[in-house]
This record gives sequence, C-alpha cells and structure tokens, in this order.
Amino acid sequence: MMYNDQSVSRQFEALTNYAPALLLRAPGRINIIGEHTDYNQGLVLPGAIDRSLFFAVRPNGTQQLRFWALDIEAAAVVDLIELKPGNSLWLNYLLGIAQQFAKRGHQLVGLDVVFGGNLPVGAGVSSSAALECGMAMSWNLLLQAGYNGSELAQLAQQSSHEFVGIPCGIMDQFASLNGVKDHAIMLDCRDLSYRKVPVAIEGCEWVLLNSKVSHNLAESAYIQRVEECAQGVAVLQQHFPAVKSLRDATPPQVEQLKEAFPGKVYQRCRYIVGEHYRTLAMIDALGAGDAAKAGQLLNLTQLGLAQDYEVSCPEIDFLFAQAYRHPGVYGARIMGGGFGGCTLNLVRKDAREAFVGEALAAYEAAFGKQGEELVVRLVDGVGEV
Ligand code: GLA
Repeated sequence: MMYNDQSVSRQFEALTNYAPALLLRAPGRINIIGEHTDYNQGLVLPGAIDRSLFFAVRPNGTQQLRFWALDIEAAAVVDLIELKPGNSLWLNYLLGIAQQFAKRGHQLVGLDVVFGGNLPVGAGVSSSAALECGMAMSWNLLLQAGYNGSELAQLAQQSSHEFVGIPCGIMDQFASLNGVKDHAIMLDCRDLSYRKVPVAIEGCEWVLLNSKVSHNLAESAYIQRVEECAQGVAVLQQHFPAVKSLRDATPPQVEQLKEAFPGKVYQRCRYIVGEHYRTLAMIDALGAGDAAKAGQLLNLTQLGLAQDYEVSCPEIDFLFAQAYRHPGVYGARIMGGGFGGCTLNLVRKDAREAFVGEALAAYEAAFGKQGEELVVRLVDGVGEV
C-alpha cells in the first residue's frame, strides 16, 4: 500500500488521537551521473524525485520516541536515554539522527512519528536518505535548531557513518534536502557548493527501470570500495603529494602507477578518475542538448561500473543490454550504490513505450521477475506539506 501526506496525517490521528504538529515530505533521489564519486570528494548530478516518504510528527510530552512505519507495518518505542543501534535498520536510520542532534547540544524531547510513502526500498533511489532527512528536518523545525540544508545533510551523513555503520558519501542526503524542482543539482562534494542544472533534453525522456532486485552484497561491497579508494589515494600520494582524494588525480597519474596499486585498486581508481571527467562532460552535453553525447557518457559509466568498479549484477547487465541494443535509447547505466536497483535510460520520447514494454518483457522471460518502470519528476527537497 502507498501513502501520501493526507493518509499519513490521518493515520497519525488514528494512532495518537492528536493532529500532527508537523507534516513533511522527504523525497528520494535519482542521479544522472557521478556515481561513487561523492566519497572521493568529486562531482555528482543528483535530483530529488516525487517519490517520497511523508512524516507526521508531534512532541508527545514524554521521554520516549514512538515510531510507526506504515509501509512495513512496524512500530517501535525507544527511551531517549537509550539511543543505541539495534537490529532494525529503519529504526537505526531514525535514531542516529536524534543522536546527532543530542551530540550538538540540543535537548531532545519525546516525539510521536508516523511515516509512509511511495518510495521503493532497494531500488537505488535512496529511501534511507529520505528516512534520515525527513527525521532531520523534523528535529530541526521542532527544536528550532536552525541548520541549513548543507548542515543537515552533513548531520545525516554523520549519522549513517556513526550510528548505522555505512561510510556513505553525502550525495543522497544532500539531494533529498536541497533538490530543486525540474532540475538536477551539480554538487561538488569537496566544498558542498552546488548549482541547479536543467536535465531535460528536447525529444528525450529519462526513464528508470527497476530490476526489483537488491543483492545483499551491496553493503559489504560498498564498504570495500570506500577502502579501496583510500588505498588508491595512499599510493598516489607517495608520488603526487598534491593528491588528497581521487578527485585530484588524473588518468595519466593513475596509469603511471598501474603496477604500484594493490589488488583491484588500479581499476577502482581508473573508474573514479574517469567518472570525474564524464560528469564534467555530461554538464556540457546537457547544456548543448546533445542526447547522443549524454547517452554515450551513460554507457561508458555503465561499462566502468560493471568492469572496473564491479558493482553491477546480471539483472542490471541484462537491462543495460536491452537499452544498448534498442534504436530508441541513447544510453543507459545502473544508478546508485549498485548490485540491483534501477537502470537510468535516456530514451527518445517516441520510443519510450516500446522500449519499456520490450525490455521488461525480455527481463521477465530471462529472470522470471517482473521489473517496473518508475516514472519520476524532479522536485524540491525536504519541506513541509
Ligand atoms: C549510495 C551512497 C551514496 C553514493 C552512491 C553511489 O547511494 O549512499 O553516498 O556513494 O551510493 O554513487
């Protein structure tokens, strides 16, 4: 079942006998290009989408946080003095945010929190960032803490690192909080400067195909990639002291040290360094409305993610192949952390229906699984409804 602001608000009243003090929309995100570059201090091009979690919140006058997760029909009660990670991932995402506010010296209060929405979990559109950012904005408003969007994104990222134990970059939280309607944002993850970028290309549409798989390798592989990138920086630094992150390294530098990198670190570095240039090139392609160029960049990113970074999977490779061979598709790639989720496809408008139908039919025939198209529009970041 899907929820919207109204039904979440009604559920809040049914569960607590009060009207919510706050009603918030916290969106998921897509990313046009710049994958796995955020934790390498690079560039990303994400946008907030009209698939969201809605939060209804009110202080309850107790020393307890009471949560109702409507989408998964789960609930939890936690004492404010007992903020520590447990077995429930969704709850950890929420409690970690409270802990960050406490760490910054804010006096927490008991809350009733009811949330639900239309944001699929495991589809690579960052339901986790929506969880964190909806909760972060709730505390921000209720405690009148006054943090801006960048500060809240950093707070949420820190919560992921410290409480949830995932060393993620800042892209997802930043996009969920600071998205701009009808635009992607070009975010520089080194200094968090950003600007809005129109991504519409005449005669084309951005199409998401959800593979409906999410392999549980995703988390451990993510942590490993973050470590491999750090190893790459360590090697590069010995020869090029100015390299503080892979964002600073150039392709010739990486090539020069090819033999010096341990394990698969060379290919990880090659992907990241290339992705930096592809992201810059994508900005130009979008500015020029050049669908062929934009599509080619997507395809190159897919190849890099599949072969060098090794975060694709058979289902996604299959959906990519469907796109690659379709005459109405300019390019495609896996989106998000990897190992499932969605492909992002740049498709000629008049070919959309045929492509989606054919690709999903072939997918079902090959894997016995029903994928789906996720139709999204770009919207503003987290805000009150
Ligand atoms: C996940 C992380 C992000 C980013 C992407 C890959 O979504 O949360 O920080 O690293 O993977 O680009």
